[in-house]
Amino acid sequence: MLPFFKNLLVAYLRARMEELKSKISELKESINQFATEEKNKAETFRIRFLGSSGLVKKIMGEMRNVAPENRKQAGLALNALKQFAEEKYNQLKNSVSPEAERTSNHQDLTLPGNELPVGSRHPISIVRNRIISIFQRIGFTVAEGPEVEDDWHNFTALNLPENHPARDMQDTFYVRRNPDWMLRTHTSSVQVREMERGELPIRIICPGRVYRNETISARAHCFFHQVEGLYVEENASFADLKQTLYFFAREMFFQDVKIRFRPSYFPFTEPSAEMDISCLICGGKGCNVCKHTGWVEILGCGMVHPNVLENCKIDSHKYTGFAFGMGIERITMLKYQINDLRLFSENDVRFLKQFTHAI
Ligand code: PHE
Repeated sequence: MLPFFKNLLVAYLRARMEELKSKISELKESINQFATEEKNKAETFRIRFLGSSGLVKKIMGEMRNVAPENRKQAGLALNALKQFAEEKYNQLKNSVSPEAERTSNHQDLTLPGNELPVGSRHPISIVRNRIISIFQRIGFTVAEGPEVEDDWHNFTALNLPENHPARDMQDTFYVRRNPDWMLRTHTSSVQVREMERGELPIRIICPGRVYRNETISARAHCFFHQVEGLYVEENASFADLKQTLYFFAREMFFQDVKIRFRPSYFPFTEPSAEMDISCLICGGKGCNVCKHTGWVEILGCGMVHPNVLENCKIDSHKYTGFAFGMGIERITMLKYQINDLRLFSENDVRFLKQFTHAI
C-alpha cells in the first residue's frame, strides 16, 4: 500500500476510534440520566438499551470499524458500557414505582377499612335484659316455666274458674290432643308455679313468650313477650307496689317521666290498676300512639287476690303480695319509636341491624 493511503487509512481509523469513544460516553450519559413516566420502567429501559435492536447492541456492531490495534481498547470500553447498562437495568427492576407500591403488598393506610359485619341483639332481647337487670337490682330473681301450660296454672289457680267470663279477655290457643293444655296466655302461670313451691317470701320476675289468638296487625300479634313480677311477703302493700313500679319506670325511661295509676280489673288481683306513662312519642301533647290522650298504658298490676294465695296454699291472712305484668313489645315500641309490631317477627336485617349499638 502506498504510504499516502496507509496514512490516510490510519487517520481514518483513529478518527473512528475517537468517534466510538465519544458515542460510548454519550450513551453512558443517557443511561445514567434515564428516567421515564411509564409504568414499567425496567422494561422500557431494556428495550431501549439492551434489546436486540437497542442502542448498546447497535454500538457493539461498530467494533468492526476500529483498527485492529484499537480493538482491545474498544472491546473493553464497550463491555464496560454493557455492564453499566445491565447494572442500571437491574437497579430499575428492583426499585418499585409509587404506583406499584400502592397496589403491591404495601398497605395504603389512608384507604377506608373493610366493614366487619357486627351482629346485634334483637330489640326485644335488649329490652328484656334491661327490664331484668332493673328488677335484679332491687332483689328480684328470674323464674321460668313451660310455654305449654295446663288449665290450672294458666287460669283456674288465678281465680279464673271454668266458665269465668274473664277467660274471654285472652283468646286462647288450646292443644287439640289434650283440652286441658294450652299455650300460656300470660306468664302469671309461672307465678302460680312459684307460689306452689311454698318458699316464702317470694320476689320474682317471669320473662317469657306468651300466645293469644289475635288477628295479626300493626298493634296485635298471635305471640308476644311479657315480664310479670310477683312479690309475696308479710305486710306487702300497695305502696310497695307503686314504689317498685316508679323505680322501674324511671330506670327504664328517664327520671322525670310522668307516671299515673288507674283503677282496673284483673281476676287475680284486688285491687287492680293499670300504669300509664306520659307518651314518649309526643311528649304528652297528643299523637296517634297515645290516641291523643298524652298517656300510654304500659302495665297491669294489683294486690294478689286472697283466692290466688289460698289456691297456692299460702295463708292469705298472714301473707299479702303484689303482682304486675307488662308486654315487652309495647315498651320496646315506645323506647325505640317503632310503629308496627310485625317488624319484631319478620327478621328483616335492615330493621334488626339498627339495634347494633342500642342499649
Ligand atoms: N297477666 C296480666 C296480663 O297478661 C297482667 C297482670 C299481671 C296484671 C299481674 C295484673 C297483675 O294481661
